[in-house]
Amino acid sequence: MLLRLAVAVLSFVGSVLSQATPYTDPDNGITLWGFTDPVHHVTYGYVFPPVAANANEFIGEIVAPIEAKWAGVSPIGSMLHSLLLVAWPNGNSIIRSARYATDYVQPTVMSGPILTDLPATKVNATHWKWVYRCQNCVSWSTADGTSTLPVDGFGAPAWVFSTVGVDTPSSVSSTFQEHTDFGFYGFDFSQAHVDTATYANWAAGGTGGGTPTITTTSTTTTPTQPPVSATPYDYIVVGAGPGGLIAADRLSEAGKKVLLLERGGPATWETGGTYGPAWAKGANLTKFDVPGLFETMFSDSNPFWWCKDVNVFAGCLLGGGTTINGALYWIPPYSDFATTTGWPSSWGNHQPYTDKMKARLPSTDTPSTDGKHYLEQSADVAAKLLDVQGYRRLTINDNPDQKDHVYGYSAFDFIKGKRGGPVATYFKTAKARPNFTYKQYVYVLNVVRNGAQVTGVKTNDTSLGPDGIIPLTPKGRVILSAGSFGSPRILFRSGIGPSDMVNIVKADAAAGPNLPPQAQWINLPVGYNVSDNPSINLVFTHPSIDAYENWAQVWSSPRPADSAQYLNSQSGVLAAASPRLNFWRAYSGSDGKTRWMQGTVRPGAASVDTVYSYNASQIFTITVYLSTGITSRGRIGIDAAMTARPLVTPWFKDPIDKAVLIQGINDIVANIKNVSGLTLITPDNTTTINDYVNNYDPASLNSNHWVGSNTIGTAGKAVVDENTKVFNTNNLFVVDASIIPQMPMGNPHGAIMSMAEQAVTKILGLVGGP
Ligand SMILES: Cc1cc2nc3c(=O)[nH]c(=O)nc-3n(C[C@H](O)[C@H](O)[C@H](O)COP(=O)(O)OP(=O)(O)OC[C@H]3O[C@@H](n4cnc5c(N)ncnc54)[C@H](O)[C@@H]3O)c2cc1C
Ligand SMILES: *[C@@H]1O[C@H](CO)[C@@H](O)[C@H](O)[C@H]1NC(C)=O
Ligand SMILES: *[C@@H]1O[C@H](CO)[C@@H](O)[C@H](O)[C@H]1NC(C)=O
Ligand SMILES: *[C@@H]1O[C@H](CO)[C@@H](O)[C@H](O)[C@H]1NC(C)=O
Ligand SMILES: *[C@@H]1O[C@H](CO)[C@@H](O)[C@H](O)[C@H]1NC(C)=O
Ligand SMILES: *[C@@H]1O[C@H](CO)[C@@H](O)[C@H](O)[C@H]1NC(C)=O
Ligand SMILES: *[C@@H]1O[C@H](CO)[C@@H](O)[C@H](O)[C@H]1NC(C)=O
Ligand SMILES: *[C@@H]1O[C@H](CO)[C@@H](O)[C@H](O)[C@H]1NC(C)=O
Ligand SMILES: *[C@@H]1O[C@H](CO)[C@@H](O)[C@H](O)[C@H]1NC(C)=O
Repeated sequence: MLLRLAVAVLSFVGSVLSQATPYTDPDNGITLWGFTDPVHHVTYGYVFPPVAANANEFIGEIVAPIEAKWAGVSPIGSMLHSLLLVAWPNGNSIIRSARYATDYVQPTVMSGPILTDLPATKVNATHWKWVYRCQNCVSWSTADGTSTLPVDGFGAPAWVFSTVGVDTPSSVSSTFQEHTDFGFYGFDFSQAHVDTATYANWAAGGTGGGTPTITTTSTTTTPTQPPVSATPYDYIVVGAGPGGLIAADRLSEAGKKVLLLERGGPATWETGGTYGPAWAKGANLTKFDVPGLFETMFSDSNPFWWCKDVNVFAGCLLGGGTTINGALYWIPPYSDFATTTGWPSSWGNHQPYTDKMKARLPSTDTPSTDGKHYLEQSADVAAKLLDVQGYRRLTINDNPDQKDHVYGYSAFDFIKGKRGGPVATYFKTAKARPNFTYKQYVYVLNVVRNGAQVTGVKTNDTSLGPDGIIPLTPKGRVILSAGSFGSPRILFRSGIGPSDMVNIVKADAAAGPNLPPQAQWINLPVGYNVSDNPSINLVFTHPSIDAYENWAQVWSSPRPADSAQYLNSQSGVLAAASPRLNFWRAYSGSDGKTRWMQGTVRPGAASVDTVYSYNASQIFTITVYLSTGITSRGRIGIDAAMTARPLVTPWFKDPIDKAVLIQGINDIVANIKNVSGLTLITPDNTTTINDYVNNYDPASLNSNHWVGSNTIGTAGKAVVDENTKVFNTNNLFVVDASIIPQMPMGNPHGAIMSMAEQAVTKILGLVGGP
């Protein structure tokens, strides 16, 4: 536990998150270190007794506008296995409790912490305020050991906020729906301490005397740095996800001088990562290497790999999404790059690029090194269900253009039983070249430009150049590969995008001054036209299924024979991620358009909702997605905290998308009775498929497959042209999921990589470059 904490603490030193600052509450004179979220205007503050006192408590407050129906904090910054504090107004009083969650579901009341309300706790016409002492709150025990706040170091506390009231406001144990917003900020806990006497006074209900007794040990003067001279590059690639890795590899292969910048750190063992399960100690394997640990990305108490300033799941480390994803890898069909899916006609012949990708990174549907399939019961049961519906079994990636009424084993880009992806292949070859430079933990804020001409990038690292600016060589180019949320944010911060977004940047004290003059702003539809697969989970039981303890044991206590087999030869159950079978079917909608449905089958389930009892050892899930052909679109952007987020969610905006998905689900479940012993438990037989889909938690429709925020196309309608160059710029390009105009047929990273191969070829062929 301590080791995991250390990792989290380190990764936030010098983080670009907004930082907590000291302030004195005018109502009680208590000085706290806190942060006011610029979107909802809620203030979250903490103050601790001296580090040396080794006390297990702190004082905190939440000051919220009355629009906040409830709000909460996680001082350690994660939801699972963590102390959570929630509060809301009820008439003139504040109802509050400590909560605890072991899964991303309703957190229940936590025993242990002792909460005492302190002076100035109140509700008035405009605000509610909870000031509290929290005892037994610096350390708490979890299933795995003890968690401790880094009181003498850095952290990233989280806040949650909701505009939807709790179910029973008068009850401290009230249930409530998932928060409507959340965020993080940087916190130097080591500063947030006062002397013993001052703390004791406040903790006992005393007021005043805050400011003069603050002990500030830090020096506020910046150490004088030697003048830095920056190295110019032919190509600066921003972001080491699949798009950026392929671009950087091919550009350096072509002899260009390339700099790849990544905000996160290493992940797999080969790249310097060390975060692994105890059972693999000494085996040079991390969480990111072992395919069977995929489901634990979502159940870890310290998930340092998620981007803290993106409001949906996104991987912020070397490899981007491909380091934390399920590694489902689909060779793209023709339609993934056809004019019918929004591509310029110059993109139609994807085959040479797809072949280049396959040559570097083959797919496998037998990821275990012994060539055998393991834990295949859910695949066998689902196959029986599909057989009676006229589906054919095939090797999916041998027949990429056959996507109607087909099923086959799940295909991955694992290599020798370990995570492969672009990091184990493209990054490896790039790194060996002397003209390729990789820098991690570097956050790119914006591009530096003079009108249409980009001259470099501004980073948060002043050791790389004056003001953190890294220049281009005279004909140099910048390629943004920061992902569907990251690249739009960099564009907004560079004065490129709709004026509402650029104006948010302008209003930000740190980002505003870096914008070019308003006359140089470039108005493009950045953030519009995004799509993501809507997806619905169906949960079944069948007596033949081995639900594998719902993947809950694989990190701390896997089945001994399976971990031994994996350590010995990277074979067995743990050599694959959870999916076992995939299928596709084409549907014609009432609008005459064709939409494709995809299914992914796996043992276990994220959640079960049934009035009946069931055998949890026999559960499996079919996730049903709608992919190519969906017409719904949403919008992504930034808020005043510079957090990137969906502004308009993209699922089911067109009712025909929803109707087609409902039809597809009805077809899947139509033949349940033909498979003896098969029972649908979520939804169960008290809920119709229609009601189930209509009442589905909208956030759960997210498949993390966002595309389209910098869509490729024609001037006036798109963000990048057919060479992936940003319109109205000379030398700024985008190569990542954001340029893809339509949902690809399958989980997208195969299509993204083929796209990157083609994009980098076009960029190299474009005259005027280095
Ligand atoms: C939980 C999850 C599961 C998924 N499962 C699958 C799957 O099984 N199969 C599949 O095909 N797809 C899957 N996906 C989707 C897939 O991983 C993404 O579509 C893909 O990674 C997107 O690639 P990208 O290059 O556009 O961006 P990303 O992979 O997001 O990479 C962007 C990179 O840029 C870096 N970056 C961002 N901003 C900055 C900045 N300002 N400065 C410096 N660096 C920056 C990030 O740290 C990151 O490394 C999954 C995604 C998630 C989140
Ligand atoms: C820049 O930001 C990254 C990502 O948040 C962080 O890891 C790094 O420490 C920061 N660098 C500096 C010099 O502050
Ligand atoms: C209500 O309380 C808040 C927080 O202390 C304060 O800022 C605000 O001015 C108060 N409003 C009124 C109407 O008194
Ligand atoms: C870059 O590296 C490639 C491959 O190693 C080499 O052929 C090329 O000459 C190098 N170019 C420069 C400018 O160093
Ligand atoms: C792990 O890596 C170390 C250092 O690279 C190496 O010496 C050791 O042999 C490796 N161990 C295994 C089990 O591969
Ligand atoms: C499925 O079961 C029904 C009866 O429940 C039967 O009429 C039908 O023929 C079966 N279909 C197949 C393809 O076996
Ligand atoms: C993008 O979205 C806008 C606004 O919804 C729409 O007018 C435009 O046609 C879309 N462009 C493309 C290329 O789909
Ligand atoms: C639940 O399923 C498991 C695995 O199939 C089986 O061993 C067990 O007996 C079942 N339990 C009950 C109560 O039926
Ligand atoms: C509904 O499902 C339950 C549990 O599987 C079963 O016992 C019951 O018979 C079913 N009812 C109907 C009407 O099918």
